[in-house]
Amino acid sequence: MWRRVFDQRVLDLPDALQYLGNMNRLRTQVGIIGSGPAGLLLSHLLAQRGIESIILERQSRAHVEARIRAGVLEQGTVDLLRQLGLGERMDREGIVHEGFSMAFSGRKERIDMHKLTGKSVMIYGQTELTKDLINARLAAGGAIHYECPVLAVEEYQSSQPRIIYEQEGQRKELVCDFVAGCDGYHGAARKSVAQNRMQLFEKVYPFGWLGILADVPPVDHELIYASHERGFALCSMRSHTRSRYYVQCSLDDRVENWTDDAFWDELRRRLPPECAEKLVTGPRLEMSIAPLRSFVVEPMRFGNLFLAGDAAHIVPPTGAKGLNLAVSDVYYLARALAAFYGEKRSDLLDRYSEVALRRVWKAVRFSWWYTMLMHRFDDDQISHRLQVAELEYVASSEAAQTVMAENYVGLAFDD
Ligand code: FAD
Ligand code: DHB
Repeated sequence: MWRRVFDQRVLDLPDALQYLGNMNRLRTQVGIIGSGPAGLLLSHLLAQRGIESIILERQSRAHVEARIRAGVLEQGTVDLLRQLGLGERMDREGIVHEGFSMAFSGRKERIDMHKLTGKSVMIYGQTELTKDLINARLAAGGAIHYECPVLAVEEYQSSQPRIIYEQEGQRKELVCDFVAGCDGYHGAARKSVAQNRMQLFEKVYPFGWLGILADVPPVDHELIYASHERGFALCSMRSHTRSRYYVQCSLDDRVENWTDDAFWDELRRRLPPECAEKLVTGPRLEMSIAPLRSFVVEPMRFGNLFLAGDAAHIVPPTGAKGLNLAVSDVYYLARALAAFYGEKRSDLLDRYSEVALRRVWKAVRFSWWYTMLMHRFDDDQISHRLQVAELEYVASSEAAQTVMAENYVGLAFDD
C-alpha cells in the first residue's frame, strides 16, 4: 500500500494522514459486537434480507468454537435455523427429545412434552451450532473479524454510531447505521451506556453448577433433572456417546477440588437408584463451574445501539433458556431492521425493546421458578419439604405438567 502511494507520489502530508485514518476505519450498515449465537445468527438473518453487517469478536475463532455451553434448542429455534438453511447438520446429528424427567424422593417422573404441547426440543451442542453458523457465514462471504476486542461504542445516539476496537494492537473504528451489542454479559456494548439511562434487575443465586463432559453413553435416553437433599443434578448429553452432567456446588468451590471419581460419586448419590446403577463413568473431556444469576437490563435499546442475548439478560441454566432467548432477540431485531431498510419504517425498531423484553421476562420467570424448585437452599428447613410437595403436585397433575412443558419447549415468538 505504502509503496503504491509513494510511487504514485499523489499524497501530500494531510492526504497521507487521512489515508492512514481510512485504513483504520470500516463502514457497514449494522455493526455486530460478538460472534456468539446472537451475533452470528443476526448476521445471517440480515444477510437473508440483503442487509450488510460486520462482526467484531474479541476471541480467536478456535476459542469461540471450543466453548462448552448450552445443549437444548427449543422448537422455535430449530424451526428458524431450518428456515435459514442452517439446520442440515443439526437434523443429521442432533437428537429430538419429546420428553424429559424430573427425579425426586428416589423416583423419576417423565414430562411428555410432545403429548402435552405437540412440540419437542433438539439436543445439539452450542459448540456445534456455533461452528455451523460460522462456516455458513464465511462461505457466504460474511465478515467476521476475530481477535478484535471492542473498547466502546461512541455516538450511539447519532445516525453514525462508531464502534471503537483494537486489531493487532492498533485502534480502529467501525462506523455504521446501527450497532448490535451481542457481546454477552461481560461485553463492552452495555458498558458504553451511562448507568443512569438503564434499569438493572439482578438476582445472584447462592450456588453454582459443576459440569463434566465425558465420552460415555448417557444414563437415560432423555434428560433427567434431579432434586436431592445433597443438591441438584442434571443428566444431559451431546450425542448417544457423549454425556454432559452437572451437580450443584457451592459458590466458592473450584474445579481443582474435584477428581473425576469424586464427581461421579456425587452425581450417583443424587440420582434415583435405578439411574445410579446404570451410570457409566469415564475420564473428563472438560470440567467447569458456572455461577447462576438472573439479570435483565431495561430497556434493550439506546438510540441506535441495540442489545441482544446475554448482553441484555442472563437466566440460570436450569430451564435451558439462555441461547434460545438470544435467538428470539435477534429474530425481533432483524425483522425491525428489515422493516427500516426495506420499507423506511422505524416502528418495529421503536418496539424492539418492549417486544423482546416481554418474552425475556417470561423465560426469566420460568428459569427462576425451575431453579427454586430443584436446588437445595440452606437458608431454611421448610424449603425442601415445600419443593417435594410441589414436585409431587407436578407429577400428579396434567395441568401442571402442561405448564412446564409449554415453557420448556419454548413460548411462541410474538407478532
Ligand atoms: P455469548 O455466547 O456469550 O457470546 C458473546 C460473544 O461476544 C463471545 O464470543 C465473546 O467472546 C464476545 N465478546 C465479549 N466481549 C467482547 C468485546 N468487548 N469485543 C468483542 N467481542 C466480545 N442456554 C440454552 O438455551 N440452553 C441450554 O441448554 C443452556 N445451557 C447452559 C449451560 C451452561 C453451563 C451455561 C454457562 C450456559 C448455558 N446456556 C444455555 C446459556 C447460553 O450458553 C447463553 O445464553 C448463550 O451463549 C448466549 O449467547 P450470546 O451470543 O448472547 O452470548
Ligand atoms: C444443558 C444445560 C442446561 O442448562 C439444561 O437445562 C439442559 C441441558 C446441557 O448443557 O446439556
